[in-house]
Amino acid sequence: MEKFVIEGGRALKGEVKISGSKNATLPILAATLLTDGICEIRNAPKLQDTRTMCKLLKTLGKTVEMNGNQVTVSGSVHTHVADYKLVSTMRGSFCVLGPLLGKLGKAKVSMPGGCVIGVRPIDLHLKGIIALGARADFEAGNVIASAAKLKGTQMYLGGMFGSSVLATANVMMAAVLAHGETIIESAACEPEIEDLGNFLSALGANIEGHGTPRIVINGVKKLNGASYRIGADRIEAGTFLLMAGAAKSDMLIRDAHYNHLLVLIDKLHYVGVDVQKDGNDIRVRCKKTLRPANVVTHPHPGFPTDLQAQYMALMAITPGVSIVTDRVFPDRFMHIAELNRMGAQIRRDAGSAIIEGVKHLYGAPVMASDLRASAALVIAGLVAKGKTEIHRIYHLDRGYEDLDQKLIQLGAKVFREKE
Ligand code: EPU
Repeated sequence: MEKFVIEGGRALKGEVKISGSKNATLPILAATLLTDGICEIRNAPKLQDTRTMCKLLKTLGKTVEMNGNQVTVSGSVHTHVADYKLVSTMRGSFCVLGPLLGKLGKAKVSMPGGCVIGVRPIDLHLKGIIALGARADFEAGNVIASAAKLKGTQMYLGGMFGSSVLATANVMMAAVLAHGETIIESAACEPEIEDLGNFLSALGANIEGHGTPRIVINGVKKLNGASYRIGADRIEAGTFLLMAGAAKSDMLIRDAHYNHLLVLIDKLHYVGVDVQKDGNDIRVRCKKTLRPANVVTHPHPGFPTDLQAQYMALMAITPGVSIVTDRVFPDRFMHIAELNRMGAQIRRDAGSAIIEGVKHLYGAPVMASDLRASAALVIAGLVAKGKTEIHRIYHLDRGYEDLDQKLIQLGAKVFREKE
């Protein structure tokens, strides 16, 4: 296992290039199961999660080659059984359910279970495929789905916590080869769903409205291969924006979609960070003391739950009191205890965190608990006085491509060391 050692307090300045989106790459790779054609996926981030999805595709019969940021997938799927060992390590792999069912008429996929960010049910995934005419049963920890022929229909896919990203992805992928028209109402509008819809279109699917709450799909008989470039990772870009605010930096964030980050940028403007669109880049400057602001997470275009922890790190050193409420994953607060180890004053109250900004954080040994919590600890470590050791950084390696290299390029003192 490896850890990051960060010597805090260094000025961060310069340019950082944003990688391809992890959460777009995973369903797009899963969607290659729908075709026997050759798919070239460009700008795929070199991450542990990408490698896990590639391994899963191989166990399903596909030929997968990774060459830098390009993944080439070819061949046909041979089995409908998704390996427990791989699915259990990464929740994103549950999105092979839809394409396996669409392509083979059956799928056996291990249930992903909960994780440190909370209970993560799959009822909406099942509701969607059942609406398309599939049967879904549970057996020994697996979901077993089958259908003689999937049939398009109109369905409402909203849930208690709003729309679901991967349930929308699963239903889209099952519906593209179904018979007739499928209308998904209350679909997830995240940019990653838009990316998936664009990829499915490139394969020859008839799909409209992806990126809006109403997706209309007309089933086609067969899909082709395609060459496709993954869009920029908005959560990585948002993490650097928040880091720039915390470290009082002047940064050019290259290849970032300003439009995907409007809610965060609006909040940053309010607290006092200067953020400007600069062509395909974002320029962020922060000089002054910031003021606090509350945040409530919601599905897109609301404030993303995947930036909640990093925003909390910024508020931890902003004078005054702020409240962060997570309405998407109300238990996603593992980072509070670790930030408090560094001198933050944060207490949890049900689905909210109440943050009293302090003047300084202090370096300490801390534990990464999940991907975004780890990113919050990196921000805290960069601005803290003294040395921070972040253990279990495999969480970071799952979702941030070359993070240590990017930070070093910005002037940070970060060392990757063996535990
Ligand atoms: N939900 C249900 N029923 C379902 C599915 C979800 O009630 O069948 C609830 C969840 O419990 C949650 C809400 O719906 O309260 C939203 O969950 P969603 O299904 O959208 O999450 P997901 O698709 O499993 C993806 C990302 C997460 C990100 C969420 C929310 C991937 C691989 N994962 O998960 O990313 O937090 O959407 O935006 O795309 C991360 O990158 O760190 C990460 C956790």
